[in-house]
Amino acid sequence: MAASTRRPVIIIAGVGNGTGTGGWTAREFIKHGYKVGLIARDEGNLRSLADELKSLGGEAEHFAVSAYDYDQIRVAVEYFKQQFAQDEIRAALWNVTQGTRKPFLEMTRSDIQAVTEADIIAGFAFAQEIIKIFKTLEPNEYGKRGFLAFTSATGARRGAPNCTVTATGKFAVRGLSQSLAKEFKFDDIHVSHAIVDAMILTEMWRKHYGDEWYAEKTKDETSRVHPASIARAYVYLAQQDRSAWTWELDLRPSHESWTW
Ligand SMILES: *[C@@H]1O[C@H](CO)[C@@H](O)[C@H](O)[C@H]1NC(C)=O
Ligand SMILES: *[C@@H]1O[C@H](CO)[C@@H](O)[C@H](O)[C@H]1NC(C)=O
Ligand SMILES: *[C@@H]1O[C@H](CO)[C@@H](O)[C@H](O)[C@H]1NC(C)=O
Repeated sequence: MAASTRRPVIIIAGVGNGTGTGGWTAREFIKHGYKVGLIARDEGNLRSLADELKSLGGEAEHFAVSAYDYDQIRVAVEYFKQQFAQDEIRAALWNVTQGTRKPFLEMTRSDIQAVTEADIIAGFAFAQEIIKIFKTLEPNEYGKRGFLAFTSATGARRGAPNCTVTATGKFAVRGLSQSLAKEFKFDDIHVSHAIVDAMILTEMWRKHYGDEWYAEKTKDETSRVHPASIARAYVYLAQQDRSAWTWELDLRPSHESWTW
């Protein structure tokens, strides 16, 4: 098959049930001609998101993991390599978060282990497998072999009470992403770290605060981030040419309080 007929693919790890950043990134990249590979923990959620994407005219494959860990992430990426052998995996998003909020002295060994395994070690495995794939490709129309993004939060730059474990994971991922951006720049591999400094409007918050609150927030785009807007920022990053690459992106709604 000629290289020009190959379609770009984005692999998204951390899709949840498709109502948040991972799911919207899939919807947005499909609009831009990408096929998608989805990784999450619930097979049923993955299947319904994949079906929805197919109904939008997209092509989607999915892989369920029982946990975000080193071995399962490697198997998942290998699976997509086979599934998309006729296409080109050109973009990848690590959107896994394993946070726990509580006082430090109540944190347990399993709390710190969970963050270490999911955010750091599985994120490391994902980046390694994805970069190996990118290195086999020629630069695309934007002059890059591939684009790898990490979704992150304010906690990547600023610790806070009750956030010891969450911030530790986020600081680590920020360090990983910056080191990768530097190590692979001459391979034309673009790595970004996106700090989302606000509430992301998802079903989780609708459950928490109720339908009325959700309807208000849906109307008032100045006070929350819509995951589709984050997804559009990822499309923009993926399309940046080599004369201006963003490593760190910082997103907040227009009226955010800037509490840090
Ligand atoms: C995706 O990233 C967002 C923002 O950090 C986070 O709230 C969400 O929990 C992540 N999804 C998963 C499945 O970890
Ligand atoms: C930390 O968590 C405890 C227990 O949930 C809570 O009482 C306290 O207000 C929290 N501290 C901050 C600064 O949020
Ligand atoms: C999606 O997942 C979130 C976070 O786990 C949950 O709060 C929400 O209720 C789920 N929404 C649906 C429609 O299943």
